Amino acid sequence: MIEFRNITEDNIEEVIALEVEENQKEFILDTTNLRCFANAHMLNKEGIPAAPLAIYANDRMVGFLMYIYDTTDHESFQNEVNYGKKTYFIWHFMIDKRYQGEGYGKLAFGKMLMDIETMSHGEAEYVDLFYHKRNVRAKELYASFGFVETGIIQEHSVHALKKLDKKITEVTE
Ligand SMILES: CC(C)(COP(=O)(O)OP(=O)(O)OC[C@H]1O[C@@H](n2cnc3c(N)ncnc32)[C@H](O)[C@@H]1OP(=O)(O)O)[C@@H](O)C(=O)NCCC(=O)NCCS
Repeated sequence: MIEFRNITEDNIEEVIALEVEENQKEFILDTTNLRCFANAHMLNKEGIPAAPLAIYANDRMVGFLMYIYDTTDHESFQNEVNYGKKTYFIWHFMIDKRYQGEGYGKLAFGKMLMDIETMSHGEAEYVDLFYHKRNVRAKELYASFGFVETGIIQEHSVHALKKLDKKITEVTE
């Protein structure tokens, strides 16, 4: 069973210790879970809702994710359908190297989208993200959930967007 838990005093060390493979570090733009957690804290302070969450499978921490709810207003998106609109943006998503390839990424990603669909931070028509152009596993995973590339590429990262239609069906184990 996949569940998400908030980051607390009790699990922060474990979140920090989660790792991707050496050759996957460029896929997460050499960021760290700790850095993302700090970003989430700063964004929340600025009034931009950010959800940093630990991913658990059968009570064991296997990964970490973060998404935010913000207005897409950077000029590079001005030709996009979500420009000027509130959008859920998936900032970070990782499964620890010990637990990859066991289906947890797919289950957790599906659950994250279902959580986003509840619009708990506010209404939005779209969810978007970036992935490194060589990250084939992420590309296929996101495409399987309906993300479509927009053509925007920033520093080797490909932008993809999905319209939220509240029709995501639960991925079962
Ligand atoms: C990308 C990532 C989140 C996927 O999580 P995962 O638990 O390894 O993936 P899953 O086991 O759920 O498999 C998801 C899909 O990935 C592909 N996949 C899984 N293992 C694979 C492998 N060893 N080689 C190639 N593709 C693989 C499959 O297409 C699979 O879909 P399918 O089950 O329909 O065939 C994880 O590998 C990861 O954290 N990678 C490093 C960080 C990263 O790239 N994050 C994304 C940043 S945008």
